[in-house]
Amino acid sequence: MVGPTGRVVGLDFSDALVVLAKRRSETSSVTFSLGDAQVDRAPGAPFDVAASQFGVMFFEDPVAAFANIASQLAPGGRLGFSCWQRVEDNPWWLTGVLAGFLTEPPRTPPTAGPFSLCDPERVATLLGAAG
Ligand SMILES: C[S@@+](CC[C@H](N)C(=O)[O-])C[C@H]1O[C@@H](n2cnc3c(N)ncnc32)[C@H](O)[C@@H]1O
Repeated sequence: MVGPTGRVVGLDFSDALVVLAKRRSETSSVTFSLGDAQVDRAPGAPFDVAASQFGVMFFEDPVAAFANIASQLAPGGRLGFSCWQRVEDNPWWLTGVLAGFLTEPPRTPPTAGPFSLCDPERVATLLGAAG
């Protein structure tokens, strides 16, 4: 998607997952780095886009974390992420196959966790505070 000259940098603070991602990587235009997205800089900044799939809900200090990410974006850069809606809207969490493996999550955001960004208004407030 980034073309022949584009670069993608994956950042995760799990050493095991960075090792796994490197092993699975099939192209030199994608690299992986160990780091905490809340405080660390990804090698290669500034970036045109910051993207996360189900990662940003775990930030202990989301304002500081999103500000840190914003500081690594080029002018006009964009942020995109996926996060879960309310646990009540995700019955797979509490029923079905996963129920035997997962402990019940806190039902009251804003505690950092899978559902901490389920409220769009809170997300807007956090992103606004982060600049
Ligand atoms: C639910 S997993 C999602 C993984 C992957 N994006 C996916 O969709 O399969 C959340 C990931 O975010 C990482 N993570 C959570 N907080 C982080 C942080 N502050 N900095 C870097 N990585 C973080 C975790 O180590 C984990 O790999």
